[in-house]
Amino acid sequence: MRLEADHKTNVELYPLFSSIAAATDLINRVLVDHHKKVSFVAATVGRTLGLEEHSLGRLTLAASVHDIGGLSIKTRLETFEFEVINPDRHTLPGYSLLAGFAPFADLARLIRFHHVHWQNGQGLRDRGEDVPLLSHLIHLSDRIAVQLDPNREILSQKTEIVQQIKAGAGEMFVPEQVEAFQEVADKEAFWLDLTSPSVSTIIQNRFPLAGMELDRGELMALAEMFRRVIDFRSRFTATHSSGVAAVAVALAEYGGFQKNNPDRLRIAGLLHDIGKLVVPLEIIEKHQGLTSEDFAFIYKHPYFSAKILCGIKGFEDIGQWCALHHERLDGTGYPYRKAGEEIPQGARILAVADTFTALMEDRPYRCGGSSSGTGRIMQDLADYQKLDKDLVALLQENTGEINDRRYEAQVGADQIHGQFIEQCRLLDNCPEAADRCPVKRM
Ligand SMILES: [Fe+2]
Ligand SMILES: [Fe+2]
Ligand SMILES: [Fe+2]
Repeated sequence: MRLEADHKTNVELYPLFSSIAAATDLINRVLVDHHKKVSFVAATVGRTLGLEEHSLGRLTLAASVHDIGGLSIKTRLETFEFEVINPDRHTLPGYSLLAGFAPFADLARLIRFHHVHWQNGQGLRDRGEDVPLLSHLIHLSDRIAVQLDPNREILSQKTEIVQQIKAGAGEMFVPEQVEAFQEVADKEAFWLDLTSPSVSTIIQNRFPLAGMELDRGELMALAEMFRRVIDFRSRFTATHSSGVAAVAVALAEYGGFQKNNPDRLRIAGLLHDIGKLVVPLEIIEKHQGLTSEDFAFIYKHPYFSAKILCGIKGFEDIGQWCALHHERLDGTGYPYRKAGEEIPQGARILAVADTFTALMEDRPYRCGGSSSGTGRIMQDLADYQKLDKDLVALLQENTGEINDRRYEAQVGADQIHGQFIEQCRLLDNCPEAADRCPVKRM
């Protein structure tokens, strides 16, 4: 993949969305495959309703990430109640995150209203805004998916689910959409596809899921959008990946590493922790006493970063660097236990940038940000063959400038995080997310 301004990269959106959403569904067993199921139901009912291909594709994509704004396990599990009490807690963050990338503005709107009840037609508007009919279809599909009981034979659940949905026609759901669902639900194959382990492949083979041609600027904007999905889950990480990206790019520039194109390192820095979506927020924000079960979640994240990123054509090397950002030269890192020459330069750069940035930040269990302390720890990590000593030397030689670049990137990210909090009205709904961690210079 080249990243010249005029070069276009084709990004297949469904596999990308679906692998990211699958990661968010791994935080709890109840949620597994939820996004895939909702997108399969929405697409199948949408086709029965006669939606034209473009709308059908956009509907399927939006449904495949509809709960992406559910930041904590508690919020995600609340969405599994048949009546969701405070849907704004996850619909507004989801809307705000997706709307940050202009080509996804339509998807963001579908997500924003996906819990509005039909109320016999009054649900065409919500707080002064038009509600797309496709949002109602995601709502219907979602309510079907949450009723599936994984412990019972699927075909024996069909009648009950249809009855329950029919009872909601008019008040909760659009009657025409319920009728289309009944038509679909009649076929046993629908239920078997829905609960098939290969439902993702079925969706990709059956529905029009166009990719997107992105130029360099758009690709960077897309990476920045996903950076927010990763980082904005917690105030402790809200600016983290921006700092890592800035330090990684600075190291590549100061070191004159031609091979590792700075743009590719920037994307890797922005997305290195994308696999952290499998780690429950409750663990990321724990103040003390991480258990071995908590560490089991944390150790998984680089593996899932690789799984998500290596699935994007042209991102294989970026995915590999991200996979290895917690490996250590002496073999004591995780999760692949690689050592020495097995760790490529891109991953070493990320490891140095990640460690340096993390040391400058507050964590739930400690305050960060003292220059002498950070320099000493980085030197120790190089001396004990954890981090690449040449890269640490490069960082120490240029520490003032590199740290300024990190600081500026994190201050910029902090402002965007402030706007996100305001937009989501989390200040009212979610006081714990309202605090922000000050970005530290040194
Ligand atoms: Fe939802
Ligand atoms: Fe949902
Ligand atoms: Fe990480």
